Amino acid sequence: MGLFVGVDIGTSGTKAILVDRRGNVTASATVAHPLYTPRPGWAEQRPQDWWKSAVAAIRKVCRAHPDAAKQIQSVGLSGQMHSSVFLDATNRVIRPALLWCDGRTTAECRTITQRLGEDRLRAETCNPALEGFTLPKILWLRTHEPAAFRRLTKVILAKDYVRYRLTDAVITEPSDASATLMYDTARLRWSEEVMKELRLPLSLLPAVGRSAEILSRVSPAAAQETGLLAGTPVVGGGADNACGALGVGIVAAGEAVASWGTSGTILAPTARPKVDPAMRVHTFCHVVPDTWYLMGVMLTAGGAFAWHRDTLARELRDNPDANAILNDEAARVPIGADGLTFLPYLQGERTPHRDAAARGAFVGISLAHTRAHLSRAVLEGIAFGMRDALTILRGLKLPLRRILLTGGGARSPFVRQLQADVYGLPVARVNREEGPAYGAALLAAVGAGAFPDLAAACRATLKRLPAQRPNAARHRAFEPAHRRYRALYPALKGKF
Ligand code: XUL
Repeated sequence: MGLFVGVDIGTSGTKAILVDRRGNVTASATVAHPLYTPRPGWAEQRPQDWWKSAVAAIRKVCRAHPDAAKQIQSVGLSGQMHSSVFLDATNRVIRPALLWCDGRTTAECRTITQRLGEDRLRAETCNPALEGFTLPKILWLRTHEPAAFRRLTKVILAKDYVRYRLTDAVITEPSDASATLMYDTARLRWSEEVMKELRLPLSLLPAVGRSAEILSRVSPAAAQETGLLAGTPVVGGGADNACGALGVGIVAAGEAVASWGTSGTILAPTARPKVDPAMRVHTFCHVVPDTWYLMGVMLTAGGAFAWHRDTLARELRDNPDANAILNDEAARVPIGADGLTFLPYLQGERTPHRDAAARGAFVGISLAHTRAHLSRAVLEGIAFGMRDALTILRGLKLPLRRILLTGGGARSPFVRQLQADVYGLPVARVNREEGPAYGAALLAAVGAGAFPDLAAACRATLKRLPAQRPNAARHRAFEPAHRRYRALYPALKGKF
């Protein structure tokens, strides 16, 4: 029996799964790693912690069956996008990584836009300069930590650092490369023009392989640490959002996937590198060859809910059912949370506001409100933000008939129905819940030759569960609360 490993390096932890040739998940383990927020708006992690959590998670799944390691045919890696791993000439980590949700680089984004001009930047990379992307982080290092910058030899991403520790190879693939703002997303090569204009050497950037291709093999030292066999093939893998889309079977244009992880994303594939003229949503490469996607990103979706749970519902902190308890009580509060609105901009916002300085807010709290109202308002605020991103995608004439759900927002029937009612579209999920790790395992399986291509892998392993349809009356009932939500960001913008 052949097995494939999928590993996803997320923001709250690393998940590893074992998947068999029929697509069944035969083992799964998640190991947490710390997030540091040294100042409001900043977010860092230690790449060494990613490696530690990856080792622990892989060890656990390898122990799940006797002889599991011998049966593993290949490994696929997925991970948080944009987060900058700064390596020196000996591939040692120079400082903690600045994460995808770190907002400290506004000045650097301005420099990039001034030097290149928004039109040239769009032509070269398909995207604007945004704080979370990788390029402004390199410029921040150059300005603020010049001694560290002088040692800088390579910049890689989260899953590519784990690949380096696993196989000694420093290499990436297009889905992560395209999210750095240094990659020519339409022509699939590093942008010499961007690097030259910003006086950065191209040698900072790793080679680019393919997502479903074997790029390297587990080293003897990593085999000792993880329990995998030395020589086990490792495929290119992909960005977490691309792997998450693959993990629910979204491989071609026509549908979208809504993911509530720490971030909230709504992603729709395209057959060409289509760009939003106002660049409110991003354009990146999919893990599927010759396929791109448009994506709107909320910086804290599940992250806002987790903050609410851990801060305002502390009494539930050690309760494994905390999310379900908060969802149940939210379900008993009427639509619109009796006038309470939550803005989920706890770490700034990308879509639709492109504003790293935005912050969260509860507006309209009264003595009549309870924890249940706060829970309801948080869930509605997340769904409204996702709807605004979806509205942009629909405005770009993407034919979206249905939304596939993944991540935290896919687990509870109440939250699924809330999404259907707020989005005004049918929502569905698949028979697998492992998200990006599942997509990474499918890339590993295709790389090892178990399926001819990714679409065939999805057909063989995924099954759509019955869709939940929007209720027209409830969709209308959300309108006043959504209008209130939309009016609050412009009203508060100058006050953050
Ligand atoms: C996407 C983004 C986030 C991270 C989360 O642009 O920044 O969704 O990938 O891990």
